[in-house]
Amino acid sequence: MRRIRNLKVKNRIFLAPMEEINDPAFRIMCKKAGCGLTFTGMINPLSKKKIYLDDTPGLQIFTTNTSGIKEFIEKHDKEVSLWDFNLGCPAKNAKKHGFGSYLKDLKIIEEILKVMRANTKKPLILKMRKSNISFDILKLAEKYCDGITIHPRTQKQGYSGEPDLNFAEEIKSKTFLPVIYSGNVNEKNYKELLKKFDYIMIGREAIGRPEIFSKITNTTFKKSFKQYLKLANKYNLPFRQIKLQAMNFTKGIENSTKLRLEIFKVKNIEGIEKLLG
Ligand SMILES: Cc1cc2nc3c(=O)[nH]c(=O)nc-3n(C[C@H](O)[C@H](O)[C@H](O)COP(=O)(O)O)c2cc1C
Repeated sequence: MRRIRNLKVKNRIFLAPMEEINDPAFRIMCKKAGCGLTFTGMINPLSKKKIYLDDTPGLQIFTTNTSGIKEFIEKHDKEVSLWDFNLGCPAKNAKKHGFGSYLKDLKIIEEILKVMRANTKKPLILKMRKSNISFDILKLAEKYCDGITIHPRTQKQGYSGEPDLNFAEEIKSKTFLPVIYSGNVNEKNYKELLKKFDYIMIGREAIGRPEIFSKITNTTFKKSFKQYLKLANKYNLPFRQIKLQAMNFTKGIENSTKLRLEIFKVKNIEGIEKLLG
C-alpha cells in the first residue's frame, strides 16, 4: 500500500467530495464519526463565498484556467490537508463552462496543475473518471501530483450504472502514485476495496448517514440532528441547507418518506426540531 506524501490521516477511509452535501457541519460530524479525511465540494478559486475549513479537509477546486489559483491557495493553504483538482464533474453546468470531465485539453490541465504545484507544499491530487484520456491525465498527475482519485464511471454514466472496477485496478497497476478509489463504496465492500486500493472514499452512502464511518472504524458516535443544528448555527448555514440535511438525515428512519414530506413543508428551524427532535 502506498501513502500520499505528507498526508497525516488516522485511517484510509475518506468522505468523497460532494457539492451541496459537504457543508462544514456535516463534514465535522463525519470526522467525529471516524472518517479519515473529509473533502469540500468543488469550489471555483474565483468564488468569493466564505469558506470554513475547521476540519482541515481536502479542498477541491474546479476551473477552466489558472486565474485566481495562486491567490486562492495562498489564502487557504494553512487550513487544508491537501489540494484536489476536479476533472470528473459530469453536470450540465460543467458542460456549459467546460470544466470537470469536460476539460479535456491536456495543455490547459497541465498549466493548472503546474500553478497548483508551484504554490503549495501540501499534497496535491486530482480526481478523474474513466475516459479515453484517463491515462494521459495520469501521466500529468505523475509529473505534478502526490496521488489521484479514480471514479471509474464514464461522463455519460454520471452516477448510475456500475463503476468499472477493472478499469480502476488497471490504473492502480500502472502508476506509482497512491490511488484513492471512489464509486459505490459501502459497509459491505469496503474491506475488499481497501485491499486493492491505497484509500477509499464514501459518497452517497454517507449522505444523511455520518454514522457509516463510525460503523466501519469502530468509533463511538451518537448521531443526532441536534448536533448538526448546533454546528450549522456555528457556521451560519442558511435554512435551506439545514432543511436539505434534515431530509437527508431521515434515511433509515421508519416512515421516512412521510417525514421527509413534512420537513419539506416546514418554514423554520423550530419546525424541523419538532419533527426530528
Ligand atoms: C450530490 C453529489 C455531489 C457531488 N459533488 C462532487 C464534487 O463537488 N466533486 C467531485 O469530485 N465529485 C463529486 N461527486 C462525486 C462523488 O465524489 C463520488 O465520486 C461519486 O458519487 C461516486 O461515489 P459514490 O458511489 O460513493 O457516491 C458528487 C456526488 C454527489 C452524489
